[in-house]
Amino acid sequence: MPVITFAHHKGGTGKTTACLNIGGFLKKAGKRVLIVDCDPQANATSGLGVKPGTSAYDIYDVFMSGTEGFETVSLRSAILKTDAGPDLCPASLDLAGAEPYLYEREDHVSVLNNALKTVSRRYDSILVDTPPSMGQFLINGLVAADRTVVTMDTGPFALQGIESLKTIFSDIGENTGKEVTPGMAIVTRGKVLLEEMTPAGEVMDGLKRLLGISGKKNLERMRFLEIMEAMNQEFAQVYAIPYDPMIPEAQKRGIPISECTAESPAATEYAQIAKVIGGWK
Ligand SMILES: Nc1ncnc2c1ncn2[C@@H]1O[C@H](COP(=O)(O)OP(=O)(O)OP(=O)(O)O)[C@@H](O)[C@H]1O
Ligand SMILES: [Mg+2]
Repeated sequence: MPVITFAHHKGGTGKTTACLNIGGFLKKAGKRVLIVDCDPQANATSGLGVKPGTSAYDIYDVFMSGTEGFETVSLRSAILKTDAGPDLCPASLDLAGAEPYLYEREDHVSVLNNALKTVSRRYDSILVDTPPSMGQFLINGLVAADRTVVTMDTGPFALQGIESLKTIFSDIGENTGKEVTPGMAIVTRGKVLLEEMTPAGEVMDGLKRLLGISGKKNLERMRFLEIMEAMNQEFAQVYAIPYDPMIPEAQKRGIPISECTAESPAATEYAQIAKVIGGWK
């Protein structure tokens, strides 16, 4: 049962989208999947059709459990079955209030890790969605993870993001003794469609060819190739997800894309990634 954490301290890089859609395809392949929403924004919760703050318990109660004066709540009692497929430990805005209490606790980096151990035999994969900030929930997600999936956008600061992430991972290693293994990188909303992409080995040739050409589209494409090249150096596996209007559509409907279509450009890619992740031990 691997725990897979989706992480990037930067916002809007596709963490939640990857978590939900990979979870959806794993479930479709017959795996027992749990998605744990560790973000007060609760987008993974809404993305599985659950209204944040409506369940008896959620991840807030799990993080507060063990703090003096608060109820002891097991992760198991906070898990919901969803119509969308994967099981869910929901989040709500309350979660933001748990962070100051965590700083007071000696075991603060391993609260999630310890909670996940109690349900690990029930699942084939546990996917953890984290918030876009370098706080307790991201650290808990990384400490609990067997593998980390880093999501990237194609914006002008994307490459700087890789450098900061490397620092964050090594800081966590030094301070907690837990080595973070970045298993995979997913570049989200690459404007360039997959079939137009230059294969990894030819990236530099592609760049040189493109240098002679101006125009916004080509600049974007060049940046995308540059990011893919940098990611290929850092991560064992790198995938790119094209822009796909079915992604926000599925999120609006509160279901993973696997429940809407298996055919759209992003669905095809996420299905492929889920196959790889489903094989992780
Ligand atoms: N392939 C795609 N095509 C179109 N839109 C996408 C795609 N991937 C993600 N999006 C949209 O981009 C936005 C950001 O994605 P998402 O919420 O997954 O990022 P995030 O990293 O979880 O954000 P946050 O840091 O706020 O948690 C969402 O509105 C999502 O619907
Ligand atoms: Mg998110």
